[in-house]
Amino acid sequence: MHTFSRFSSAMLLVAGLAGPALGQHAASHAVANATTIPNQLPPATAPVVARHALVVSAHPAASKVGRNIMQQGGNAYDAAVAVQFALAVVLPVAGNVGGGGFLVYRDKSGKDGTLDFRETAPAAASRDMYLDASGNVVPGLSTAGHLAVGTPGTVAGMEALHKKLGKLPWAKLVAPAVRLATHGVALTEKEAAGLNRTQADFIKYNPGSPTVFVRAAAWQKGDTLKQPELAAVLQRVQSQGRAGFYQGPTAELVLAEMKKGNGLLTQADLDAYQPKWRAALHGTYRGYDVITMPPPSSGGVALLQILQTLETSNLAKLGYHTPAAVALVTEAERRAYADRATYLGDPDFGKVPVAQLLAKDYNKQRARTIRPDGQATPSAELTAGPGLPRYESDQTTHYSIVDAQGNAVSCTTTLNGAYGSKVVVAGAGFLLNNEMDDFSSKAGVPNSYGLVGGVANAIAPGKRMLSSMTPTLLAKGGKLFLVTGSPGGSTIITSVLQSILAVVDYGANAEQAVAAPRLHHQWLPDQLDVEAQALTPAAEQTLKEKGFNPQPRNPWGRLDIIRVLPGGQLEGGADPRGDDAAVGY
Ligand code: GLY
Repeated sequence: MHTFSRFSSAMLLVAGLAGPALGQHAASHAVANATTIPNQLPPATAPVVARHALVVSAHPAASKVGRNIMQQGGNAYDAAVAVQFALAVVLPVAGNVGGGGFLVYRDKSGKDGTLDFRETAPAAASRDMYLDASGNVVPGLSTAGHLAVGTPGTVAGMEALHKKLGKLPWAKLVAPAVRLATHGVALTEKEAAGLNRTQADFIKYNPGSPTVFVRAAAWQKGDTLKQPELAAVLQRVQSQGRAGFYQGPTAELVLAEMKKGNGLLTQADLDAYQPKWRAALHGTYRGYDVITMPPPSSGGVALLQILQTLETSNLAKLGYHTPAAVALVTEAERRAYADRATYLGDPDFGKVPVAQLLAKDYNKQRARTIRPDGQATPSAELTAGPGLPRYESDQTTHYSIVDAQGNAVSCTTTLNGAYGSKVVVAGAGFLLNNEMDDFSSKAGVPNSYGLVGGVANAIAPGKRMLSSMTPTLLAKGGKLFLVTGSPGGSTIITSVLQSILAVVDYGANAEQAVAAPRLHHQWLPDQLDVEAQALTPAAEQTLKEKGFNPQPRNPWGRLDIIRVLPGGQLEGGADPRGDDAAVGY
């Protein structure tokens, strides 16, 4: 099956015998450099291992900010606030102040909880706002421009996190982001390419207001992007907290921007926005406690449903990415996503049958409908599980943090699509989200991730749009074991799933788990998305013959995970698909 020793490379690092120094940023090139063998995990590389505290995020500068905060006495929650604001500067494609997210935490004593700082539909939003007179979805209306914008939740969320769990002064946590925005940051190759790809959209959605992201010459790796208007916004946030964003000059600029493009956000929407503390969802998988995000994200429910289905089989014995293993995982995913489309939505707007969806008997019953001969169940023949009470981008970013005391944060945050709505608030220099597309504009009509939904996820004023974000923690015997999460739109759930399966079922280290080529099925469309090198040609052929519909897919989300080693050291897995980096001490 797989030919590596479980802890060897990490242990060498801990002993200081190989690889980069402890806790230093190690560029991750596992996918690019390794000769990945499709039915094996990637070869064991030398992941970053830290003795005390570790941050894994989508950008080296943001990871360093989080590490520095913890070295200055901050805890994981302080680091999360600092990383969130740093990402808003250095990762404009997804890091944000104009979006929202979900955070799962577990403190050093084992107490856990979640913070929902998801965007909400403005009060003037309505169920059919993206339909034309004939009742058809108007293409593009929910995906870009001013009408796609939900009320941002990030700044209010970070303030709530700091008030409840933070230790260092707020101003100290926002300061690094102010510095990065003021002095500029050198663009990575990927960020430069992203900005270049989006020039036409930035111009289209910001007529008459030149944005800092647009320039005549193509952006190059190493160019410095200074964001003085964003720096001013962050300074207001630094000195006034949420009021520096939802009121005063920043709010006035947001409202002026809305007026310019016929957007819906009002001062009343900004004033009404509230982040919510929610109890974490708990499940178990092969002896591990799984702590994850409840609705309005679908991520936790779907992840636990899939894990319950898989737990009834010996996945490791079926082999890694063999047709039998892939068929089983795919069928489990297909069933969970079918349920997602029917039952999941904002629990504050109607009953979401979480307990029923997570009942062992329910998932056992669902598992019994999986064909034992490895044959696909066509999605057209599979609906959501019967008898439950009816209620009715790929660009996001994730960071995982553990501090020296053992507090852990798993946070996924987003503008939704790449650069969100593409609308940059004139005079404030930050991008607004296009999160309204995560609602179901019309029952059964797919959104930009191909996801369908119905009444449960219909638009309503003040409602939170359904998400796939799946920030998750695993613990065993009362001890933290894994911090995981990923961006990737509808593939978030299955990426997080695969990180857990890689570590728990196949014995991968953190770097192998994030680098391994991935697969994905979401019920509709009925296709098995396959990353290059994920399957051998023979396995792909067998799956085709069994009725699966393998399709090449790129890009994928970026897993950023931390595995706690038996000795307590923290092993980082920074996804090699991006600029992601693990930085600790
Ligand atoms: N905007 C992606 C998600 O929340 O699932």
